[in-house]
Amino acid sequence: MRQLRESGHEVVVVPTEAALRFVGAPTWEALSGRPVSTSVWSDVPTVAHVELGRWAELVIVAPATADLLARASAGIADDLLTTSLLTATCPVLMCPAMHTEMWQHPATQANVSTLQRRGVHILPPDSGRLTGADSGPGRLPDPGTIVELGLSLVAGTASMAADLSQTHVLISAGGTREPLDPVRFLGNRSSGRQGVALAERARDRGARVTLVAAHLEVPAPDGVSVIEVGTAEQMNVQMQAQAESADVIVMAAAVADFRPVDVQEAKIKKSGGDPPPLALTRNPDVLAGLTAIRRPGQVFVGFAAETADADQLLVAARKKLVDKGCDILVANDVSEGKVFGDSTNEAIIVDTQSVEPRSTGGSKSAVADTILDVVVEHLGLSG
Ligand code: CTP
Repeated sequence: MRQLRESGHEVVVVPTEAALRFVGAPTWEALSGRPVSTSVWSDVPTVAHVELGRWAELVIVAPATADLLARASAGIADDLLTTSLLTATCPVLMCPAMHTEMWQHPATQANVSTLQRRGVHILPPDSGRLTGADSGPGRLPDPGTIVELGLSLVAGTASMAADLSQTHVLISAGGTREPLDPVRFLGNRSSGRQGVALAERARDRGARVTLVAAHLEVPAPDGVSVIEVGTAEQMNVQMQAQAESADVIVMAAAVADFRPVDVQEAKIKKSGGDPPPLALTRNPDVLAGLTAIRRPGQVFVGFAAETADADQLLVAARKKLVDKGCDILVANDVSEGKVFGDSTNEAIIVDTQSVEPRSTGGSKSAVADTILDVVVEHLGLSG
């Protein structure tokens, strides 16, 4: 509330009865400079519950408890907050915070999905220390994150559309590892951040998301089905199995093109002279294999990590779009260690429906949104 007021916004606090056990009404009144009420029966002449909903340009519910999510998803209107939620037509941002078990309970997740389908924006909780000795997902994100997201919803710069509801989005992320022996592997520098951001944003836009994850350096998002794999062949098997029911398939993973011909059962020892030659064999091309057996209506997104200047990048992107048989291709320049492991990305997007490439950049979450906007165009759901 302080951050919003200090940046010039008017804030009305609508606590629940339970919230006042944590912070009392006088504190809220002093900080907001306005009276505070929990009930529809106070201030009756102004019909506050309708008035507040109409007046607000943004509603933030932080923290949103399991109980509040349940009441809001059922449309229950038994206090001033829940009645205001039913009358609000502006963006609504809910920030769930609770113990991990409550957050992961199917009832809570079902309520979150219902609210998302109706266009409510859910900021998933952070992982970390909770109120007891426990820790895990359930922590309220820091106020700066909440305010920034809330204001971007008002400005229309963050998408809160549930434009991927009824859609199954299958995403591969991370980097495969091809074992040489029980200790060593051939790997790559993919952290999985862009794939995870895509999974998170697709979920927030209402999709059912399956994430096939290879050695992620970041936690997989909540509310997403995760299938862990290690090698390219394992990724191929899982992607093939899941692709049948998927409407959108995104290959964000860095897949090893080659694997050692023989995997040694015992650790390779340095004693015994020259190192053994490393014989490699081709791995399946997962993406090309999936597009070859696509069913009508499916949308495929490929990635291309290239060490190239802007012109070469565009040529390579267009070639890979065709070679891989995908609808959309996201290409980035990864020379000099750029992109891998960063929280930001810069890429061009080419697709089969547009003549001109699009550029995108910023946080991996913002890039994910731009990619999903193009996906929505291809699904024919836009407009
Ligand atoms: N890909 C895949 N299976 C592979 C290799 C790549 O599905 N064995 C996918 C990647 O996930 C990505 C796209 O194909 O979406 C392009 O990957 P990239 O490594 O850039 O291209 P390659 O096909 O490996 O070609 P090259 O490395 O020769 O540029």
